Amino acid sequence: MPATWDPATHELHLHNGRLSYIARIMEDGSLGHLHFGAPLAAGRSYAHLQRRPFHGFANRLGEPVAREYPTGGSGDFRVPALVVEPADGSPVLHLAYREHRLLPGKPPLPGLPATYVERADEAVTAEITLVDEPSGLEVTLRYTIFEALPVVVRSATLRNGGPAPIRVRCAMSATLDLPDAGWDLVTLDGTWSRERHVTARPLAPGRQSVGSQRGTSSAEHNPFVVLRRPSTTEEHGEAIGLALVYSGNFRAEAEVDPFATARIRLGIEPDGFAWTLAPGEELTTPEAILAWVPDGLDALSDALHRLLRERLARGTWRDRPRPILLNSWEGVYFDFDEETLVEMAAAARDLGVELFVLDDGWFGERDDDTSSLGDWVVDRRKLPGGLEPLARRVRELGLDFGLWIEPEMVSPRSRLFEAHPEWALGVPGRPRTESRQQLVLDLSRPEVVDHVFGMLQEVLASAPISYVKWDMNRSLTEPYSAALPPDRQGELFHRHILGVYELWRRLTEAFPDVLFESCASGGARFDAGLLAFAPQAWTSDDTDAVERLAIQWGTSLAYPLSSMGAHVSAVPNHQVGRVTPLATRAAVAFFGVFGYELDPRRLSGEERAAIRDQVAFYRDHREVLQFGRFHRLRSPFEGDRNGAAWMSVAPDRSRAVVGWYRILNRADPGPERLRLRGLDPARRYRVTAWPATGDRWEQINELVRGGDDLMGVGLFFEATRHEAPALGDFGARVFALDAVD
Ligand code: GLA
Repeated sequence: MPATWDPATHELHLHNGRLSYIARIMEDGSLGHLHFGAPLAAGRSYAHLQRRPFHGFANRLGEPVAREYPTGGSGDFRVPALVVEPADGSPVLHLAYREHRLLPGKPPLPGLPATYVERADEAVTAEITLVDEPSGLEVTLRYTIFEALPVVVRSATLRNGGPAPIRVRCAMSATLDLPDAGWDLVTLDGTWSRERHVTARPLAPGRQSVGSQRGTSSAEHNPFVVLRRPSTTEEHGEAIGLALVYSGNFRAEAEVDPFATARIRLGIEPDGFAWTLAPGEELTTPEAILAWVPDGLDALSDALHRLLRERLARGTWRDRPRPILLNSWEGVYFDFDEETLVEMAAAARDLGVELFVLDDGWFGERDDDTSSLGDWVVDRRKLPGGLEPLARRVRELGLDFGLWIEPEMVSPRSRLFEAHPEWALGVPGRPRTESRQQLVLDLSRPEVVDHVFGMLQEVLASAPISYVKWDMNRSLTEPYSAALPPDRQGELFHRHILGVYELWRRLTEAFPDVLFESCASGGARFDAGLLAFAPQAWTSDDTDAVERLAIQWGTSLAYPLSSMGAHVSAVPNHQVGRVTPLATRAAVAFFGVFGYELDPRRLSGEERAAIRDQVAFYRDHREVLQFGRFHRLRSPFEGDRNGAAWMSVAPDRSRAVVGWYRILNRADPGPERLRLRGLDPARRYRVTAWPATGDRWEQINELVRGGDDLMGVGLFFEATRHEAPALGDFGARVFALDAVD
């Protein structure tokens, strides 16, 4: 069992040979933190790892400075995990050990998405309960270590065991007290259409944080950060990954103290948060994922990809190859009728596409984005027979049918808003801020959740719909619920997201065979919380191949390729106006859940032929590309920033696909050498360039080379000085590798 509790030393040691997590009940009864990181031998005491005691306080010399769930007000001046206001108004808590238990497996978290196990022997969970005697506040810290992954997940449940209400102002999911601050903090930052770009900065004295107060995890910062040593690369060096399984406001923060130790905390954003616990009530934090590796970001991402793909995502589609889809949005936007859609579906079928998705515009009077959200009734002007005949016709063509919906919203111009203005978030007597001419439904209200669920159920039952794109297109403003009393408004954001999760839970349980893709103006809610319900998400509204290199690279630090929707769209690109070759657009979108976002009726014969070839290639390599082991080879954020390269390898290492991209072309570009990773050094691979014809790079087809050679020396390809002008900008190469022995 990868967890031991030593009754003599009062130490909890979680160990699986990949990492160790060690905590200890200290002399003052508090739970001290001793270690997170390199695997240490079980059966020994690590009490000596306790760091220097607070020396400024004459009577508290024996107390630890590294705690598992730190509180403020009594000498620890760093950022706390927990802040409460008990009935007496005192900010001081002393959380002392009461009891613990070790459980095989992992219990679910009530109302919250979380990682899980399929067999009890996959993990062990330790639950340690601490109590503040004067207030009666109980804190149960939960730690699960996975047997096969370098990962510990944490959460906390607060319970008011006292006689009076307690107001919680900050309840983090996890803190980590690290013995030194020699780390770079890596965050994923951006905005709409520029999500999850990689930023790295050295930790510096004081506090540094990213977070969201938008009600969504946001495109601006992702609830995932990495701490890496300055010398850490993809292949070497220590790294810690921290991800929050949550889709609402969050904070990820590091504080470096004067003694150059670092405290990290991750959890719900404390600013504006206030939750009242009546006697006997509980509050559980979202889950935090903590991963540690000694051997580079590649290994860190692999551990997270496996956890998120196999033990966070769930349901019928978790392990199933995802269909190649064509989405109507960039092809026709709001401008369609049934015949248009059927023609598009027929053209898509001829290309080999498997799923036709009708995006926005099918309901109410939705000719643009100024109306109708909330009125999920088919627009009979466009679809006279409703969804059913359309879906049937699409299915008769041999394609599945999918539908877009944005259930959390209401347009001020809608019947729903006329009937229930109080269902939209807003402060009575003050104007509501509109974004994209829409308001957010107050999903902290159970009756609104019931209404939306009923509506979704009706829509999904009205036609053979096998895929749903669930969108969410604005941040939350005026975060006030008419249904909550004034002193409980600080609960609104969290209650709202619990309502969102309740909707997702009910819907995915009611329609277990439907494939769900989440979306929030592209990737504004691309997080581990929603991945627990929808195994894939629309990565970004930006479909430009060059922009996507950075977006998909950053996203891949935490999230697996099976979660990243990636589509080929028309040129000039609708977001940036860039014209990139069709093959390059496909070469980028292959590294994700592949599809198209264009009007297939407008393609030339040559384009149609090229797309048939793309679809055939993706079909043939889909499992490697969706479920393989991903390796990042060349970063678009480093070096000359003029390209990128990455690859995905089948679990049995019999196949791999490599993608290489150059943004701007150069005269006489010289030979390219790409050292590959993850192959079997003892096997030989046939290297086939895709597309097989039509490019001017040195023909590489039918080359057979050893895995050792491809990894140790590299894959070479070259265009001569005379051939270079024909390559143009935005070039890409895809290589398929197949083991021949
Ligand atoms: C959002 C999505 C797009 C599209 C539109 C429809 O912007 O991210 O993919 O669905 O909404 O209005």
